[in-house]
This record gives sequence, structure tokens and C-alpha cells, in this order.
Amino acid sequence: MGCQLPVGVFDSGVGGLTVAKEIMSQLPGERIIYFGDTARVPYGSKSKETVTEYSRQIIHFLVSQGVKVVVVACNTASALAVDTMREEFNIPIIDVVGPGAHTAAQATKNGSIGVIGTEGTIRSGMYNKYIYNLNPDLNVYGKACPLFVPLVEEGWIYDTVTHEVARRYLSDFQGKNVDSLVLGCTHYPLLRNLIRDVVQEVLGAGVTLINPAVETARCLKQLLTGNDLLSGSEDVPEHTFYVSDSAEKFRALANSILPCNVIETKDVAIKTFE
Ligand code: DGL
Repeated sequence: MGCQLPVGVFDSGVGGLTVAKEIMSQLPGERIIYFGDTARVPYGSKSKETVTEYSRQIIHFLVSQGVKVVVVACNTASALAVDTMREEFNIPIIDVVGPGAHTAAQATKNGSIGVIGTEGTIRSGMYNKYIYNLNPDLNVYGKACPLFVPLVEEGWIYDTVTHEVARRYLSDFQGKNVDSLVLGCTHYPLLRNLIRDVVQEVLGAGVTLINPAVETARCLKQLLTGNDLLSGSEDVPEHTFYVSDSAEKFRALANSILPCNVIETKDVAIKTFE
């Protein structure tokens, strides 16, 4: 019998569900406990100290739920807080930036990579650091797209306003010849179709969009396999969803994103976990 403990996944809101969805697809036997910090979203405009403090509380909460591993399904928390969290907690922690950087370095053919993310992620320079570590000859261009997260949280996934915002942001890559664009915020894969169309309009054909979730789920699978922590279950598990505010709004959005039926979303007083 495998390890039946759940996998903890967290984000500032619904974005991390794009990672949870990929985990459900690659590891269908794993039970997920998801936390979305809807009371404090967005993380992207907040300081390293604040995002670290939020991440600490959330990991304490997930540990209290008995998780066997934590997946930081948020690029901002991955870029700003994961190093500290790995020092503080005695539990395996998977981030999304390392896997995203790895995928981008493998995908590019002309060596020119674009990264879009929150202000915190882009300012941290973590994608550049990881990608240069893998191959110092690659060029990385970052662009913060702070309006994308509230638009996604509002459900404006394919909307003329979102389209115009994307045009302004993505025009920044004109002349840089990027052939790979990392969706360096877990909210952005929800805008994938819109981003693909706008990229085609402003940058032309031939740009590959990279969703770090795919490689993140693969890393999780590798970690669980290597440590004999796979559930091994053939039954479809019942996942649990927690938020810090607006549970009903989250539940409705989650149901439009995930392949499973989210019947209930529970509120947690996250600040009490330290
Ligand atoms: N989805 C998160 C990320 O990947 C956070 C977005 C935010 O809260 O600003 O960066």
C-alpha cells in the first residue's frame, strides 16, 4: 500500500489551480489539499517579507493537514519565499520557477526567451538566474503584467479589455526575437488562448508558450516516486479546497477550471497559523 497522505498545493488565489489540474492529470491517484489566499491576493505587488510571511502561515496550515509535500503553485512565492521556506520546514517543497526555467531553456531554438509574470517575480530576476545557470548563452527578457491577475480573478478570461491590456504588455517584446514565452504566473495559463492570439498579432507566428505546470507536476511525480511516497491508489480521490475569503466565488471559478466537481470550499483563518 502506498502513501495516502495528501499533496498540499497553494497560491494567492485561483492561479494555482492550473498546477493542481496538471497534477490531477499526471498523478490521478494523489489527493490534493489546495489553499487559495483569496483575502490577500495579489501577491505580485507585495514585498519579499510579506510574501514570505504569508507562505509561512500557509505551509504551517498545510502541514497541520498532514500533507506529505508542498507544491508552491505560485511563481511570486516561489521566487521570493521558497529558499527561506526550505530552510525553515522539514518537508519537501516543490516550486514552479525552477521547472519553468528548465522547460524554457529546453524549448528555445534561437536562445531568446521572454518571461511574463508579476512585478515581484520579474523584479526578483529568479527566472533569469535559473535560466543563466542552465545555459549562460541564453537571453532572457522579463515583463511584469500586473493587471492580468485581477482580470483572471474577475473571470475576464476572454474579454476585449483583457485583450487590450495584453497588447500593451506583449508589444514590449517587439524586436527582441523571442521564440519562447514563459507564462511565469500560474494565473496566466487561464489566459492562454487570449495570450496566444495577441502574441500572434504583435510578435508573429512561431512563439511557443510555456506553462511551467507541466514540468512542475513531472518533478512532483519524480519526487514522490523516488521517496516511495506515491499513493498508488486507483480510486479517484476527493480533493479539498480552502480559501481565506470569498469561498463561493472561488468555488464557481474552480469549477470552470478543474476537471473535477468542487462541491465545497472552506474558509480558513490563515493568520492564526504560525
Ligand atoms: N499566481 C501567482 C503567481 O504565480 C500570484 C499572482 C498574484 O497574486 O499576484 O505569481
